[in-house]
Amino acid sequence: MTEAVQTSSTFTPRVFSGIQPSGGLTLGNYLGAMKRFVDMQEAGTHETVYCMVDLHAITVWQDPDKLRRATRELCAGFIAAGIDPAKSILFNQSAVPEHAQLAWIFNCVARMGWMQRMTQWKDKAGKNTQNASLGLFAYPALMAADILIYHATHVPVGEDQKQHLELTRDVAIKFNHDYGVDFFPVTEPVIEGAATRVMSLRDGSKKMSKSDPSDASRINMTDDADTIAKKIRKAKTDPEALPSESKGLEDRPEARNLVNIYAGLSGQTVDQVLADVGGKQFSEFKPMLSELAVAKLAPISTEMARLMQEQDEIDKILAQGAGQARELAAPILKKTYEIVGMVGA
Ligand code: AMP
Ligand code: TRP
Repeated sequence: MTEAVQTSSTFTPRVFSGIQPSGGLTLGNYLGAMKRFVDMQEAGTHETVYCMVDLHAITVWQDPDKLRRATRELCAGFIAAGIDPAKSILFNQSAVPEHAQLAWIFNCVARMGWMQRMTQWKDKAGKNTQNASLGLFAYPALMAADILIYHATHVPVGEDQKQHLELTRDVAIKFNHDYGVDFFPVTEPVIEGAATRVMSLRDGSKKMSKSDPSDASRINMTDDADTIAKKIRKAKTDPEALPSESKGLEDRPEARNLVNIYAGLSGQTVDQVLADVGGKQFSEFKPMLSELAVAKLAPISTEMARLMQEQDEIDKILAQGAGQARELAAPILKKTYEIVGMVGA
């Protein structure tokens, strides 16, 4: 085992984040998560650990063959977007059993009331909570385990995960308090940039999501150039020209969304984008956005398609990543078991 477990409040700067292999990747995943994962990898200030959270995916039923395919496709997506297995640890959650083992301990730390307040639980369980899986209810405890099994200090995510990260902090604080230790870090969420909440192209009040029944609402990472252009052309807008300052986007959710997407893709701030395009009509701005989206996304989808032909290569990368992840996770789980009072830990 390479890492000495720390029991003080100084932790190695380490980034962890995860994406569910429960369908294709969207532009929301790319701008809100993956692109930022690559930036953090390249910054070199933190160790970076990225995970395909297959155990989270099965909190709602998944066809096993589709799940296997989606996990490999997500891995191809990570690599095509710029995650380098030589620089980051890349693996699937179920291959590192310490996640589920720590999640059990956290199930005993977290309170029912905390879980009941989670808006994602309320949204996903719908009216019939009695029929939702126990796993869907406990989902945030597993997420806390994903993060804390690496003593991760920073977690880049989209806006929708903020509440889950607050719960992760609560779990760390309560565990440390209940056992009188300073063992788990109180993790910092990293929710930054122009595109932490990419909205549906059809409805500026709804998040762009892989589970939206309307395919026109999202850009998929596997969409071809014509499809991307068509979806942007049809995206809902308002009749006004674009403003020259971000203040002018207030109460214009669809306009704001397209500008945010442009900013996210081009690596500019919203104000920089508006300084260029202020005064333009959507008939002029939309083709600019399409061109930029195709230029940024086409190389990624081409590389994903190529990698999907190399399944053995993907499986080798995942196995190697799981081995590296276990080296970090195993001593932290062992120490947790000791703290809690498990004999033989
Ligand atoms: P999921 O696909 O739900 O596993 O989400 C994986 C990551 O992508 C998380 O960090 C989410 O916050 C982020 N994400 C998903 N949808 C969006 C969106 N529409 N805008 C920004 N980030 C998103
Ligand atoms: N819950 C996250 C989502 O749906 C995925 C996730 C699972 C995650 N474990 C995580 C994200 C740990 C960050 C850190 O998007």
